[in-house]
Amino acid sequence: MNNELAIRGQFLDIPECADDPATLELRHVEDGLLLVHNGLITWFGTWTEGEQKIPQSCPVHDLGDKIIVPGFIDTHIHFPQAEIIGSHGRQLLQWLENYAFPAEMQYGNEQYAEKMAKFFVNELLRNGTTTAMVFCTVHPQSVNGLFAAAEKKNMRIIAGKVLMDRNAPASLLDTARSGYNESKALIEKWHKRGRLLYALTPRFAPTSTNEQLALAGKLKKKYPDLYLQTHLAENKDEIAWVRQLFPERQNYLDVYHHHGLTGERSVFAHCIHLEDAEWDRLQTTDSAIAFCPTSNLFLGSGLFNLHRARKKKVKVGLATDVGGGTSFGMLQTTNEAYKVMQLQQQNLSAAEMLYLATLGGARALCLDHLLGNFLPGKEADFIALDPEATQLLSMRSKKARTVEELLFALMILGDDRAVAATYVAGRLVHERQAEAG
Ligand code: GUN
Ligand code: ZN
Repeated sequence: MNNELAIRGQFLDIPECADDPATLELRHVEDGLLLVHNGLITWFGTWTEGEQKIPQSCPVHDLGDKIIVPGFIDTHIHFPQAEIIGSHGRQLLQWLENYAFPAEMQYGNEQYAEKMAKFFVNELLRNGTTTAMVFCTVHPQSVNGLFAAAEKKNMRIIAGKVLMDRNAPASLLDTARSGYNESKALIEKWHKRGRLLYALTPRFAPTSTNEQLALAGKLKKKYPDLYLQTHLAENKDEIAWVRQLFPERQNYLDVYHHHGLTGERSVFAHCIHLEDAEWDRLQTTDSAIAFCPTSNLFLGSGLFNLHRARKKKVKVGLATDVGGGTSFGMLQTTNEAYKVMQLQQQNLSAAEMLYLATLGGARALCLDHLLGNFLPGKEADFIALDPEATQLLSMRSKKARTVEELLFALMILGDDRAVAATYVAGRLVHERQAEAG
C-alpha cells in the first residue's frame, strides 16, 4: 500500500449533510493541501497552514488549476448493461426484454464476466466515480468478476447477485432456494473484504416470488449490516403489474416491506410514481432513493420529485442506472438532474448538485462517516476536474465570476474529458493524459 501522499490544488467539497439545500455549504479552499496516509485523509486545509506538516520524502502532487472534489458516488448502476447503453426502444418492460435480459445471459461465462468487469471498473474511474452500488446478474460468476476487478483498484463497491425466480427468460432464473444459497456463499466470500460490501439484489417485485423475497428477508436478518438494492415505482405498467401479482399488498413498497427489505441500508432506484403511504414508509424505515435522471428521461419513465424527498427527509443519492441511463458520467447525470428539476419548476444549486454526487450519495449508502468530503479520517477518494478540458469549457470557465458559477458550468457541460485524474484510497488510478486518443 502507498503510505503517504500530499495533494496541492484548489479544493471544493460539502462539509456537512443537510436536508434543506439552502443550508448546504460549499467549501472552497483556493490553494489547499490534503495529506493522505495509508489511504486515509490525515489533514486538510490551506497550503500555507499545512506546508510544514508534509512529512519528509512524502511525494507532493501539485494539481495546479484543477478543481479537486471528492470522488463521485453512483448509487445505482448495472454492470452487465454497459454493453447495451444507448439501445433504442420503448419503455422499461420492453427494453428489459429486448436488451437487458439478452445482454445479461452472457454473464454465466466466467471469462466474459471478468473481461467486462475490468471494462466497467475502468469506465467508472475514467468518469471520476470511485464508489458505486452495482447490480450484477443472476450468475455468481458476474459478482466474483466485478468484486475481483474492484478489489484490484481498492475501490469501495457495493454489489450483489440478482435474485430472479420468475417472469424472465429461463436461463436467467434462479430458484428461491438456489438464490438464497448462492447469495449466502457470496456474502461469506466478499462482504466487508477490504472495501467491498454486499447487497441483496432482488431485481424488482415482478421477477421474484414471495418465497424468494422472504428468503432475502431471512438473509437480511441473519447479516444485519448487509445492503439491499432493488427497483421501485419506475414505470406505470410496472406498477400495474405489481398490483396484479401482489393483490394482497397495500402498495408496491409494501411488497418489499412485508418481507423485511426496507431499512437504512436499503436503496430503491427511481421512485417516480410513489403514493403518499410509500413516501411515509421510506421515511419511517430510513430507506434511501437512487435518483436516476438520464435513465428516467431515456426510458420515458417520468420526473423524480426531489422536492418531495427533501420535504419528507428521505435520503437521496444520484445514480446513472447504466444501461437504462445514457452515461457513466456523474457530470452528465447532474446536468440531466438539473433539467428534470427545471421541468417541475424546482431548482438545483451548484452546491446541491455536488452534494448529490458526493456526500449525499455517501449518506444514502450509510457511508458518510467514510466518504463524501475531505474531513480527516475519511477515505482518500478524490478526483481532479479540469475546467479547461475542452475549448468550450475553457472559454466558459474564463467567464465564470464565482467558484459556484465555475462548478455549475462544469456540472452542466462536463463529461469524462473533464476528469483529469482519479485517486482511490490515495492512489492515482486514472490520469486523462495517459490515455491513448
Ligand atoms: N427494473 C427491473 N430491472 C431493471 C433494469 O435492469 N433497469 C431499470 N432501469 N429498471 C429495472
Ligand atoms: Zn436499475
